[in-house]
Amino acid sequence: MNVLIIGSGGREYSIGLALKKDDKVSKIYFAPGNGATDVIGENIDIKDYSDLAVFAKESDIGLTIVGPEAPLVDGVVDIFKKEGLVVFGPSAGAARLEGSKVYMKNFLKKYDIPTAIYVETADEKEAFDFIDTLIAPIVVKADGLCAGKGVIIAQSNQEAKDAVSGMLSGESFGDAGKKVIVEEFLDGFELSIFAICDGDNYKLLPAAQDHKRLFDGDKGPNTGGMGAYAPTPLVNKKIYDDVKELVMKPTLEGMKKEGSPFEGVLFIGLMIVDGVIKVLEYNVRFGDPECEILMPLIKSSVFDLFYKASTGELDSLNIEIDDRYAVGVVAASQNYPYKSTKASEIIADEILHDNLKENAHIVYAGVTKEDDKLFATGGRVLLGVGLGDSIQEARDNAYDILGQIHFIGKKIRMDIAYQALK
Ligand code: AMP
Ligand code: GLY
Repeated sequence: MNVLIIGSGGREYSIGLALKKDDKVSKIYFAPGNGATDVIGENIDIKDYSDLAVFAKESDIGLTIVGPEAPLVDGVVDIFKKEGLVVFGPSAGAARLEGSKVYMKNFLKKYDIPTAIYVETADEKEAFDFIDTLIAPIVVKADGLCAGKGVIIAQSNQEAKDAVSGMLSGESFGDAGKKVIVEEFLDGFELSIFAICDGDNYKLLPAAQDHKRLFDGDKGPNTGGMGAYAPTPLVNKKIYDDVKELVMKPTLEGMKKEGSPFEGVLFIGLMIVDGVIKVLEYNVRFGDPECEILMPLIKSSVFDLFYKASTGELDSLNIEIDDRYAVGVVAASQNYPYKSTKASEIIADEILHDNLKENAHIVYAGVTKEDDKLFATGGRVLLGVGLGDSIQEARDNAYDILGQIHFIGKKIRMDIAYQALK
């Protein structure tokens, strides 16, 4: 069957890589893809979703997988379904869980799903009054999509108020900040849990940990994620059971009641506070770089998983997960996450070690191709992914393969998976 993958990052590259190994998949298309996805399949330059649906029909696409949140929030799944196409991802209605933090928080409250206490408001005075009841740090969030920048952890009550004013005036994030969430700061450790859902049923993937800050020791500005690993030993059976009972069950039932059954990947951002789970946020797509380490851990058919989730058949599917660990380390460009960096050629050494050939690979993200040469052009350029019987081994493999790839300004964190190793 032919598959279309919408998106251009490392996430989409890694999905393509997993599908390429699958016997059931004949040809893979990426829209738009990046400078390296054309080795896995064919890049298509069609931006309009209706035109893309026409392309999918004409090219005999049996499954479309949507990577990023923006097309989901914009309703690409609804457009494809209307054309009778099989597509993996939530409808625009269900994507509101990520597209609007106000919708998400009110949903959590309505269905009694554990989360930080908060107010949701467009009124400055109401926000200020609530801030006065809290002790810093205080969290202020813009309602809409802000490319991962809409969350401010204010270190004083005044800073929280300034953040609210900046958002409500439209100055900070335009319309996305016209409503805000103010919430208590949760002090614990973060986890990413991914559930592949078909509206009624779901399959949980191994729990992962991302590293959002730019520098070692979780210092510096927030980024899209500088590295991830899975499964994390910080998760025990109780946390998994709580996720199933206190989050997955009410979320899937709740979304059905709201008339927007959840299909696709539900990405639950959790904070564990003294063993108690709290939902920080939902995303309605795979995390990036979490996807890059989860794809190689799925031993059974990745195609079946996505296809059966898209056709409401997950209950009949058993998935098999590798019992190894995966660690992914991002190599970002020099000026990431502040501004773009001058393009620089990527030079890869020949991989001579058998261990690395078997247990490590590169996932390409922010790259372009010119005259058959790859150039680092994006913020997060590529990842080294390592597999191993222990986190240490997987991590060594990831760093070793990353050491064989060179471009000017290559920036990496040296402490990925430190929480699991300390
Ligand atoms: P979000 O987009 O809501 O996940 O927020 C981005 C990041 O901000 C999260 O990954 C957390 O690191 C942090 N964060 C968000 N909400 C809270 C909270 N209530 N307490 C502590 N940290 C938070
Ligand atoms: N890695 C976090 C995210 O994709 O939002």
